[in-house]
Amino acid sequence: MYQAPRGTSDILPHDQAYWRYIEETVADICRLYGYQRIDTPVFEDSGLFVRSIGEDTDIVEKEMYSFNDHGGDLLTLRPEGTAPVCRAYLEHGMHNLPQPVRLYYITPIFRYERPQAGRFRQHWQFGFEGLGSSDPALDAEVIEMACVLYRRLGLRDTVLKLNSIGCRNCRPQYLKCLEEYYSKKIDLLCPDCKRRLERNTLRLLDCKQESCMPLTEQAPKSSDSLCAECQDHFDFLKKYLVIFDLEFDLDHRLVRGLDYYTRTVFEIQPLGEKGAQTTLGGGGRYDDLMEEIGGRPTPGVGFATGIERMILNIKRQGIVVPPLPQPTTFVAFLGQEAKDKAVGYVAQMRREGIGAILASGNRSLKAQLRHANALGATSAIIIGEDELRDGMIVWRDMTRSEQQRLSFEDALKRLKK
Ligand code: HAM
Repeated sequence: MYQAPRGTSDILPHDQAYWRYIEETVADICRLYGYQRIDTPVFEDSGLFVRSIGEDTDIVEKEMYSFNDHGGDLLTLRPEGTAPVCRAYLEHGMHNLPQPVRLYYITPIFRYERPQAGRFRQHWQFGFEGLGSSDPALDAEVIEMACVLYRRLGLRDTVLKLNSIGCRNCRPQYLKCLEEYYSKKIDLLCPDCKRRLERNTLRLLDCKQESCMPLTEQAPKSSDSLCAECQDHFDFLKKYLVIFDLEFDLDHRLVRGLDYYTRTVFEIQPLGEKGAQTTLGGGGRYDDLMEEIGGRPTPGVGFATGIERMILNIKRQGIVVPPLPQPTTFVAFLGQEAKDKAVGYVAQMRREGIGAILASGNRSLKAQLRHANALGATSAIIIGEDELRDGMIVWRDMTRSEQQRLSFEDALKRLKK
């Protein structure tokens, strides 16, 4: 017996109401804020991700699903959604459109991670990107839109964590301070952090090891080393967030797991839960990314959230989601001649836009109605010998278990109402 690969899961019919609820909420919010949908291929040139996410990140080092295709190209299943959207922006000359260009996506993401609650090897993300503007009002818009999404879904008790990690002008100075600080404590660092100290100092702040956490608490803060432009940008962003009435926690340890960020980084976490796999969503600004992947310098800011994690929290908080539209009318019959009639009836019902399910096999009427109940059918049409003879049907209200004889045409009229 085959099973779904480790870290992947099937989305079964009984869970589809959650997905529909999220997809509809997302589409409505994107319409409100003027974001348009974009879909990019499931795989891209590996180089796109290596260049943008960064060689020394966990994603590129350990988590990418990469393969050579039969033509010898090295491809990677999308481990995140921002770089492909930036690639598409450049490829389709979207800089010619009015800026910023606002795009969103709902898409599967692949990361070879250790599966656990809320962490999968294939998960789905809803993400959105504002491209072509460095205005801090756009950062604030993206952050507010993320918060509004969770609020609309009914999720309570979330915290917004915010930080600025500077730009290529001020960050080298900050990294130097960080290096000096950690070099003095090298003996206390976990093996991964010892390596990070040499290759990617900022990542040290992201370490979740017990032994390293207290060191990060005391580490120099990026927000204390910002250049005047970054400081201004950060101050404006905070001002806009206050205007939006959004509370936020400044967190100097927040650096995020991808290397492309500049200035703004933020995450939204469920209150009282710690650990990377609980984060609901995160994002930030990435003003150097387009240049890094071969385009002209183009600023951008965006956010993404895992759909499975939203559903996990919706369930945990006992939020009731609207049910999917119920099936419909069940058509039961007794005998072959009645079955022939029933096949014609269901065809006509569907042509007229009425959902219809035909009983299968030649079961007893009782068994057919049990089936109708199990499917949640609200009404049934029954064709027995008497009905065949009289050119009538039995109409059954499944919720009230009441029935009456009608012509098929009258039943259709009723269903249409
Ligand atoms: P990320 O923080 O790597 O950011 O992922 C965004 C969200 O995807 C996470 O907060 C989490 O909800 C979900 N997620 C990530 N990994 C997993 C997993 N293994 N299983 C289940 N859910 C997961 C990005 O990917 C950036 N592209 C976000 C962004 C957009 N930045 C700017 N624009």
